Amino acid sequence: MRQIALSSETDWDGWRQAARRLVLAGIEPAELSWSVGGASDPLPDASGSFNVSRALVSLASVAFQAREPERFGLLYSLVWRSHAGDKLLEDADDPDLLLARRMALSVRADAHRMRTNMRFLPVEDGARFLGWYAPAHFVLEANAQLIARRFPDLAFSIVTPDGAAHWNDTALRFGSGLRHAEDDEALAAWWDRHGAALLEQAAEGTSVPEAEDLDEAPRPPDLPALGPVVLRAVSDPALLRAGKDAASCQRCPLFAPATQMVFGEGSADSAVMFVGEQPGDQEDVIGRPFVGPAGQMMDRAMEEAGIDRRTVYVTNSVKHFKFVQRGKRRIHQTPEVPEIQACGGWLDLERDRVRPRLLVLMGGSAARAVMGRAVTISRERGRPIQLPDGQTAFVTVHPSYLLRLPDAASRAREYAAFVRDLQAVRAIMQAG
Ligand code: URA
Repeated sequence: MRQIALSSETDWDGWRQAARRLVLAGIEPAELSWSVGGASDPLPDASGSFNVSRALVSLASVAFQAREPERFGLLYSLVWRSHAGDKLLEDADDPDLLLARRMALSVRADAHRMRTNMRFLPVEDGARFLGWYAPAHFVLEANAQLIARRFPDLAFSIVTPDGAAHWNDTALRFGSGLRHAEDDEALAAWWDRHGAALLEQAAEGTSVPEAEDLDEAPRPPDLPALGPVVLRAVSDPALLRAGKDAASCQRCPLFAPATQMVFGEGSADSAVMFVGEQPGDQEDVIGRPFVGPAGQMMDRAMEEAGIDRRTVYVTNSVKHFKFVQRGKRRIHQTPEVPEIQACGGWLDLERDRVRPRLLVLMGGSAARAVMGRAVTISRERGRPIQLPDGQTAFVTVHPSYLLRLPDAASRAREYAAFVRDLQAVRAIMQAG
């Protein structure tokens, strides 16, 4: 038996190189034993090349990420048979092919689950987003590459029991993982203690040590200071439950193409609730409201107006991202009235629970959701509007409107007007 050791569970290049040389040297699948790490017999000196159909390479590259140890040998035998002229891809009942397809299906579902269920926490004062997830298969690398390609400007770390991926706008690096993360706060505290060292270790490209177990790691005496965005309003069980229920909401068709539902967040004691339109491209992936470009614009204006985002509740009138796919880009689409109405129950629930004195309605969709009618922003912005239920509304522009303005002069003018609106919000709050 010839022993072939790969360098890691996801050593696709190593497996491909080995498979090519072994097939060319005529080594039968039954003569091979595959492993990760450990001693390896030398690969045969075989030169030349052969073609494998694109469909088989694509299937193998996905099934390769499955956690089943027998995948290396199974995929080798498919390549071996294909090289020998077997038309296996045409036989839908071929048991090896069926097994590889089942593995690939399970990998795809797991990769999707990881992207939809993982929530990112802002750490390092919001400079990095941190997510933890325990995937069923080895999907970390492929998912991290996908997220890095989609959001090259977003520094993130994804930590799993198998290892961690760190992106910092130039390189994706891999390092040690974490076996278990109890909750967001414990994860943030763990990062606070180990993050810098983990990034350094990954940058140096040292080998991946065993995952650390948070339970065994000594806890820091205090939780780290929170970044500019507060953690989800975990203090209010009803809001937390509503967020979980909303995650499976299918009240309108927007749930289907979206990555996940994005519920509001902030303290349940907030006196002010900021309402936007719907999550954008980044919010849809990260699972938190207002973390993308519009959110950064809003944060900057809030800071200039003297409003601490940690003290307000931030949400959207529609909780799923509505978009059209154009090539690789997802282009935002304004939600229709029935979609705003279908989502209204979730916003009502948030309003009931938080009971803010003031609702800051950013843009037409938020104003329509709360006031139940079409609102001309330029006519109604900048002043308190009494609502029938005793709450007060305050209409202003949506921060993404500022991002869309074509020239610097109008952007500066409109941004200043937005800050003035937020200063008025602050004055209303201070007046009690
Ligand atoms: N725009 C919104 O209305 N909400 C977000 O969360 C992000 C962008």
